[in-house]
Formats: sequence, C-alpha cells, structure tokens
Amino acid sequence: MADRPEVRQVKLWDPLLRGFHWLLAFFVTGAWLLGNYGPTSMKWHFWFGYAVTFLLAFRLIWGFIGPAPARFSHFLRGPKAVGDYVRHMFLREPSYWPGHNPLGALSVIAMLAALVAQVLTGMMSESENFVDVGPLAGYVSSSTSDAAKDYHEFGANLILILVLLHVVVIVFYRFWKKEDLVGPMVHGNKDVRGK
Ligand code: HEM
Ligand code: HEM
Repeated sequence: MADRPEVRQVKLWDPLLRGFHWLLAFFVTGAWLLGNYGPTSMKWHFWFGYAVTFLLAFRLIWGFIGPAPARFSHFLRGPKAVGDYVRHMFLREPSYWPGHNPLGALSVIAMLAALVAQVLTGMMSESENFVDVGPLAGYVSSSTSDAAKDYHEFGANLILILVLLHVVVIVFYRFWKKEDLVGPMVHGNKDVRGK
C-alpha cells in the first residue's frame, strides 16, 4: 500500500465539541434514569432535560460555525460514500478517518434528531399527577399533549437503543479494528490518513 497517504496525528475534535459530548452523555443518562426511576416529582428530570436542550442548541449552531470536523457539511455524505465506507468497514485495521465516518455520521444525526424530538415532546407533556407540566403543554391541545407524552415514552426507548448501538460500535472499533475513538473524544488528537 505504498501509494496510500501517510498516517499523521491531527488535532481533530475541538474542546467545546468534546465538552459538549461528555456533558450530553451525562445529562441524557441522568434524564433517562430520572424519567424511568426518579422520584415522583419531575423537577430534576426537567432540569436535566433543559440541560440537554441547551447542549442541543449549542450543537446545532456549532454544526454551522464550528471548526471543520464539527460541521455537518464536513461529515454528512451521500449513499455512495456510505456504501464505499461499509464495504471496507470490516477490515481488521484502523479506518484513520478524519472525523465522523459516513456511516457514523448517520448515527450522530439519528441521536441528535431523537434527542431534539425527546426534549420537544417532553416540553409538551404533563405527568400522570398533572403536577409537573412541561412549559409548552399549555400552548397545545390536550390531544397533542397526549400524543407528545406517548412519543416521549417511546423516544426514551429509542434513545436507549441508539446509545447502546453507539457504544457497541465504539467497542467494535477498539477490539476488531484496533482503533481507539474514545481517546480522541477525550484529548482531541487522532491518527488520520489523508486530508
Ligand atoms: C447517553 C450517552 C451518549 C450520547 C447521547 C452520545 C452521543 C454522541 C454524539 C451526538 C456524538 C457525535 C458528536 C458530535 O459531533 O456532536 C458522539 C460521538 C462519540 N461518542 Fe458518544 N454518546 C454517548 C455516550 C458515549 C460513551 C459512553 C462513549 C464511550 C464509550 C462515547 C464515545 C463517543 C465517541 C468516541 C464519539 C466520536 C465517534 C467518532 O469518532 O466518529 N459516547 N456521541
Ligand atoms: C434527553 C432528554 C429526556 C429524556 C431521555 C427523557 C426521558 C423520560 C422518560 C424515560 C420518562 C418516563 C416515561 C414513562 O415511562 O412514562 C419521561 C417522562 C416525562 N418527561 Fe422526559 N425526558 C427528557 C427530556 C424532558 C424534558 C426537556 C421535559 C420537559 C421540560 C420532559 C418532561 C417529561 C414529563 C412531563 C414526563 C412525564 C410524562 C408521563 O408521566 O408519562 N422530559 N421522560
């Protein structure tokens, strides 16, 4: 493979994106646990949900004005790029991909979209005891609020599946492809090939 570009280390993920990621993981886990197993009062669930909302708003803006690897235009690719990537994905060697790879990008978008839907439906919901009322519940009809509440319950399971898949894929990269993706999300540096 002498014609392949050399592998080199670059500063890939900026500090704000890394901070965003680990805070998101913390607050999504907290909101999920508080929603399912927390006290009857949903005060803390709401606060964790608002923290997730704030983080998502940041990520949306950062996807347009952040450094190149953080931009949606940098990692969102068409079906052909996804197909090409998938064909080589099971090789037992690191991808050295300079950012989210075309398939991983789909999972990033799926997680972000599921989280946006989760916080929006949460804000339109009210709890069984009608004490904890989402801030948007008063602005929608009661049938919309009920539908939002149904979705919110389903969405929490969807998020669990997406996050489990996310972690399984990262373990697959670590042990099958011998590529550490977690380190770069902690310190920012990654070995990449090409650009
Ligand atoms: C509730 C838990 C989690 C959520 C919601 C979550 C969500 C995300 C999102 C949205 C991204 C894309 C980052 C961006 O560009 O905005 C991402 C990337 C990443 N996450 Fe997580 N994550 C979670 C837990 C974890 C855990 C536990 C690990 C460590 C095992 C992890 C490791 C990573 C890594 C390594 C990347 C970068 C992947 C790449 O190189 O393309 N995440 N995660
Ligand atoms: C990532 C963010 C969030 C996650 C993972 C999440 C998860 C959950 C879960 C698992 C439940 C219990 C569902 C059930 O079994 O009935 C729940 C209930 C609820 N959540 Fe969230 N939630 C999030 C954000 C929010 C936000 C931002 C709000 C509003 C500010 C909110 C408002 C509510 C309300 C009012 C309920 C009670 C609904 C009921 O009693 O069925 N959630 N949430």
